[in-house]
Amino acid sequence: MDRILIRGGKPLSGRLPISGAKNAALTLMPCALLTDEPVTLRNLPRLADVDSFGHLLNQLGASTQIEGSRPEDFGRVMTIRAGKVTATLAPYDIVRKMRASILVLGPLLARAGEATVSLPGGCAIGNRPIDLHLKALEALGAELETASGYVTARVPDGGLPGGTFSFPIVSVGATENAIMAAVLANGTCILENAAREPEIVDLCNLLVDMGANIEGMGTDKLVIHGKQRLHGATYSVMPDRIEAGSYACAAAITGGELELAGASANDMHAIIAALRETGVHVEETRSGIKVAADGKLKPLTLSTAPFPAFPTDMQAQFMAMLCLADGASVLTETIFENRYMHVPELARMGADIRVDGRTAIVRGVEKLTGAEVMATDLRASMSLILAGLAAEGETKVNRVYHLDRGYERLEEKLSAVGADIERDSDG
Ligand code: UD1
Repeated sequence: MDRILIRGGKPLSGRLPISGAKNAALTLMPCALLTDEPVTLRNLPRLADVDSFGHLLNQLGASTQIEGSRPEDFGRVMTIRAGKVTATLAPYDIVRKMRASILVLGPLLARAGEATVSLPGGCAIGNRPIDLHLKALEALGAELETASGYVTARVPDGGLPGGTFSFPIVSVGATENAIMAAVLANGTCILENAAREPEIVDLCNLLVDMGANIEGMGTDKLVIHGKQRLHGATYSVMPDRIEAGSYACAAAITGGELELAGASANDMHAIIAALRETGVHVEETRSGIKVAADGKLKPLTLSTAPFPAFPTDMQAQFMAMLCLADGASVLTETIFENRYMHVPELARMGADIRVDGRTAIVRGVEKLTGAEVMATDLRASMSLILAGLAAEGETKVNRVYHLDRGYERLEEKLSAVGADIERDSDG
C-alpha cells in the first residue's frame, strides 16, 4: 500500500495551482442524469472519488468520456451522456465506499421516476444518516419504501407534484438531492433552511445553464419551478476552497509563502478570517490568494458550522497548524460527532491536545517530531501531512488512499513549492 514520506522543516514558497472542487464535482456529475443531452464538465479534479462516481454513472447507463487532457495537466474535461437511464440502483458496495453516491437519488427519481439506493451505514467521521434526503424527497411528493438495507423512492402517477420542506438541520447532501429532484417536478418546490455552501451555488448555476428555474440561489430559501425537460450544458467546476485552505495552512505551519493560483477568496471568508487571526498574512491577488507567514502563530477559538461559518472540512488542518501556536486554542466541532480521529496521531508527533466531547483544547508546543502515522479519513490525513511538513525528522503517512480521494497529486504540488515529500509505493 502506498504511503507518503515527508522530511519536515522546509518553508514552502512559490505558486501552487488549486484544482476543481471535489465536493462540487460530486454533485455536478449526477446532474448529467437529468437530461438526454451531453453535459461537459471542465476543470474536473483527477481524484479517486471522481473516477468512482464516473463508474457509478456508467452502471446507470451513462457514458463518460475524458477529452484531450495531457497527463501533466491538472484537471480534466469529461463529457457525460445519459441518452437513456438503464438502471436505477446505487448498490451497497459503491455507497459504502463513497457516501456521495447517494447523490444519484434525486436525479434518478426525477428522470426515471424511480431510484433505489443502499442505506449508507456508518462512516469514519460519524453516524451520517440519510433521513433528511428521504424526508425532503417525500415532502416534494416522492413515495418511499425501505427493505433489506435499501430505500426505493418513486414518483407518483402524474409526476412529482412539488411541495415545501424545511430542513430541521442544515444538510449539504440532502439539499443537493432535493434540488436535483425538484428541477424536473411538475409543480413548485420550496426548500427552507437549505444549505448554501458555494458548492450548492455551483450546482444551481449548472442546473440553470441546463434550463432549470431556481430562485434564491446562495440563500437558505430556494424556490424551484419544475421544468418538463432540461438540456445539455458545458460547465467549469469551481475551485476547491478546502484544498486552497489546506495549502494555506501548509504555508502557515512552515512559515512560508504560497500563491494559491485559481483559489477564490469569495468562497473562503471564514477560512481567511481565521488565518488572519493567527497572524498569517492573506492577500487576494489577480490570479488567486497569497498567503505568507512569519514567526509564531497566534492561538484561536474556533467553532465549525454550516456556510458561511468555518467549515468542518478545515477543522483537522487548522488543528495541526495550531499545535505549533503560541498558546492554547479551543476548537469545537458542531457538525460531525466523531471528527477528532487525527488527535491521537498528532499526539504521537508531540502535539498537546485534550478532547472533551465536541471540544478540543490544543496547547501549542515548541516543536513536532516526525513519526509513522495513519488516518481514517480524508481531512484527518491532510492534518498529518501538514504536521509532517513542519515536524523535525521524517514522517510516514499511511493509508494514502484517503488523500487520493480528495487531493489531486498532493506530493507533486507540494514538492514543486519546496517540500521534501515523496510517495513510497512499496510501503
Ligand atoms: C458534505 C460534504 C462533506 C462536508 C459536509 C459538511 C460532499 C460530498 N461532502 O457532506 O465534505 O464535511 O457536507 O459540510 O459534499 N445529517 C443527518 N441526516 C441526513 C443528512 C445529514 O442527520 O440525512 C447530518 C449529518 O450526520 C451531519 C450534518 O447533518 O451531522 C451535516 O451533514 P451534511 O451537510 O449532510 O454532510 P454531507 O452532505 O454528507
